[in-house]
Amino acid sequence: MPDIKDIGVLLAEAESAISMANSPDDLEAISIKYLGRKGQITAVLRSLKEVPIDQRKELGAATNKARVKLEQELKEAAEKFSKGDKKANFDPTLPGVSHRIGAIHPITKVLKQVNQSFERMGFEIAKGPEIESDYYNFEGLNFPPDHPARDMQDTFYVEGDMLLRTHTSPVQVRTLKNSKPPVKIIAPGKNFRNEAISSRAYYTFYQIEGFLVDEGVSMADLKGVLNAFCRDFFGEGLKLRYRPSFFPFTEPSAEVDITCFLCGSKGCRLCKHTGWLEILGCGMIDPNVLENADYDSEKYTGFAFGMGIERVTMLKYMIDDIRLFYNNDIRFIRQFI
Ligand code: DAH
Repeated sequence: MPDIKDIGVLLAEAESAISMANSPDDLEAISIKYLGRKGQITAVLRSLKEVPIDQRKELGAATNKARVKLEQELKEAAEKFSKGDKKANFDPTLPGVSHRIGAIHPITKVLKQVNQSFERMGFEIAKGPEIESDYYNFEGLNFPPDHPARDMQDTFYVEGDMLLRTHTSPVQVRTLKNSKPPVKIIAPGKNFRNEAISSRAYYTFYQIEGFLVDEGVSMADLKGVLNAFCRDFFGEGLKLRYRPSFFPFTEPSAEVDITCFLCGSKGCRLCKHTGWLEILGCGMIDPNVLENADYDSEKYTGFAFGMGIERVTMLKYMIDDIRLFYNNDIRFIRQFI
């Protein structure tokens, strides 16, 4: 014959089973075990008629109350599962799930640093299109048709005289045409060349172009700006060397080397045992380029430079393969957090 105490025990047992349930199936099993047709609480309700009349009312009320309470608790537990509330079985002693954090791409990071460095010297940022015309990429920059220097650029042609720009120098002509001196610009951007891919060359790459046009601008101004930038970007104690070179759009032209900071210019693999690392091309803007942009080249002079961003990033962070920038391997990129 069941009594009130049995109901209390059954209810406690069922509630503890609900608290440990891991799935809706577990709840279903608990419901069957206590409230189903052959369930234990159902059995007590059925046997009430055998209970002496003086105890029946009290036992009946307690059993019914337990049934209602259990039904309610089962319903609430089932709702938690359907809402995906994992708190039902949250174990605070388990180790947490760590989230993988991305990072700023080293090229983006260096572009930002270089831009800021020149902005502090009063340069403004300009941009030009990646699909460019032959005029801006070549002719306006003093590359006549059939000039052999065009071959050095391994151009991807698009259609007609449109092409993927091979350098950021076209921004010089575009910007000069739309501005009045003094013009003091840097133009960061992406370029494309049909080059064989290797650890040192890729078919797309970034450059920063810089130029300044005004009355009386000289090579000394160019050196002052580039020396200040290199100290800012690579650190103090660096020496620069200006080597004569050739570009159709500058005269005179130079390439700039910095002392190899890996070996302190003693000679190593990075600097190919020369003690020097090449970082950019520069020069005084050719009068033809100024005239193409409707400037009086008797009155105005200017300097220009173009720097490969992958190249300086590789030197700054000792990266030995340009392809690493473009594989999107998170293990590489995360080193630049
Ligand atoms: N446009 C050149 C290149 O991609 C780089 C360059 C050299 C830019 C000299 C300049 C410059 O503005 O003065 O090879």
